[in-house]
Amino acid sequence: MGLALLVSISIGYLLGSISFSYLIGKKLLKLDIRTMGSKSAGATNTLRVMGKGPAISVLVLDIAKGIVAVWLGVILGDGNAWVPTLAGLAAILGHNWPIYFGFRGGKGVATTIGVIATLVLFPALLAGVIAIGSIFVTRYVSLGSLLFVVLTPLSTWLLMNYYDYPIEYFYLTVAVALLSLWKHRTNIQRLLTGTENKLGAKKA
Ligand code: G3P
Repeated sequence: MGLALLVSISIGYLLGSISFSYLIGKKLLKLDIRTMGSKSAGATNTLRVMGKGPAISVLVLDIAKGIVAVWLGVILGDGNAWVPTLAGLAAILGHNWPIYFGFRGGKGVATTIGVIATLVLFPALLAGVIAIGSIFVTRYVSLGSLLFVVLTPLSTWLLMNYYDYPIEYFYLTVAVALLSLWKHRTNIQRLLTGTENKLGAKKA
């Protein structure tokens, strides 16, 4: 089991480290996403800096990284819930601190969606509906992201017995929420002072 865990975590991290927003920015527009807008290498900043098409591609690919990492862990883990749990966490850490790109990545939300939705689909859907609703109403993507990560541990806890989720999945949702709160600390400050960037606004 030790080898399966090591392989899953390593591949999860290396996969998560593929910074699609950086690669698409460089390829399409010869720009470094990490120096523009909010400087975050993620789908929201790609939308801000490059527009809808690239942003949707980044969103899908960043979600896919999380899904693939978890599935690899499920397959190699052979019933041990720690393996997909830590493989998913490794993918999120890779996205946030990518080994190939000077450890300067994004805030991990899209990859988190892929990981969490693969492990605990219905709690993720519940939190996701509220998060998306909040983005439509307020146009703050960061608020939606924060609601998603904060509500997921709650919805997972509530539905845990019903769906028979292993406790490791709940631990992951808590860890990911704390990680995401930390990564969004400047967004939180801006939200509190009413200066956060709204969806559609050009300047970060
Ligand atoms: O998913 C990231 C989002 O919550 C905030 O991104 O670029 O506005 O800081 P950004």
